[in-house]
Amino acid sequence: MHKNKLLLTGGCGFIGSNLVKKLEQKNYDVIILDNLSKGSLDYIKDCKARFIEADIRDQKSVAEAMQGVYGVIHLAAFGSVVESVESPEENFDINVRGTFNILNQCRKAGVQQVIFASTGGALIGNTPPPVNENSLPQPISPYGSGKLCGEAYCCSFAHAYDMNITALRFANVIGPVSWHKKGAVTAFMKSILNNQNITIYGDGTATRDFLFIDDLCNGIIQAYEKNLPGFTPVHLASGKEVSVRSLAQSICEVAGVSNYPIELLPRRPGEVEKNFGDYTLARQLFDFQPSTSLKKALSITWEWFKDQNRIIQKNKEN
Ligand SMILES: NC(=O)c1ccc[n+]([C@@H]2O[C@H](COP(=O)([O-])OP(=O)(O)OC[C@H]3O[C@@H](n4cnc5c(N)ncnc54)[C@H](O)[C@@H]3O)[C@@H](O)[C@H]2O)c1
Repeated sequence: MHKNKLLLTGGCGFIGSNLVKKLEQKNYDVIILDNLSKGSLDYIKDCKARFIEADIRDQKSVAEAMQGVYGVIHLAAFGSVVESVESPEENFDINVRGTFNILNQCRKAGVQQVIFASTGGALIGNTPPPVNENSLPQPISPYGSGKLCGEAYCCSFAHAYDMNITALRFANVIGPVSWHKKGAVTAFMKSILNNQNITIYGDGTATRDFLFIDDLCNGIIQAYEKNLPGFTPVHLASGKEVSVRSLAQSICEVAGVSNYPIELLPRRPGEVEKNFGDYTLARQLFDFQPSTSLKKALSITWEWFKDQNRIIQKNKEN
């Protein structure tokens, strides 16, 4: 078992494909397990990582993928709040049963170090922000409930089987390789590229905490390397509260469009009203310190979306 060998589930997705590049720069030997339901091999084409196409619920494939692995970073999930309201069964099956299988196969293989990708806003629900590790989780979507169940299994496995498991509660992550995502940044940027109205669900006063992908990946690696004992839930956030309307305005500025039409539609069930996170504990435990401004994060993301759009248009022509 080599200390630098790790299994990354969901490594072909938005966060995973960015993370694997940083892990490889740090000489980690990464095995990716992904069923390609949302991610793509194109996103990891420049990586050395060994790829296993499998589902996290498949006991045999997960057991095989864990051979000789020192730790696991478990990102693979059904990732959408809104879709979890439409398909709670599928969300439960992937996020709860899938996470249980990952933990159970870790137990059987003797893998003692796990990072679990959890969530800030959706797990805590409608609590006055900022949310931190002392906030009482009261999820209002099946997605939030599934992540809370995942954390509960992380906690019990850490205690019952002497494992080190850190649940990182991500804020809303933004950055390149997020074309397939359902969040506001992706939706607004695609609308501008397609000359369509920006659609906001609600009156635009709902708030979120947007964390740039580089800052998030640094935090994940810092937490992995810290290998905290037992079970520790930790929020990774920017600490800044941004309304959805001001996000739309910032994206219009970055895209160089002014007075862009914004359409308001009714709020969607499952989405929290106000949210931002407090990352004090992450700073204290492993020096987490996000450093990218929202404007810079949006500029980098916009440039990537423009490039991606060009590639898609060119492929359509050929
Ligand atoms: N993106 C965010 O803003 C955000 C915020 C909070 C938490 N998270 C969590 O971070 C993790 C990664 O999110 P992301 O934004 O990269 O999502 P993503 O959808 O881009 O990536 C998830 C990856 O997991 C794979 N996958 C899905 N179901 C699978 C299954 N049953 N078996 C194997 N692979 C499967 C997909 O193909 C995809 O490549 C998820 O656990 C998500 O819940 C993300």
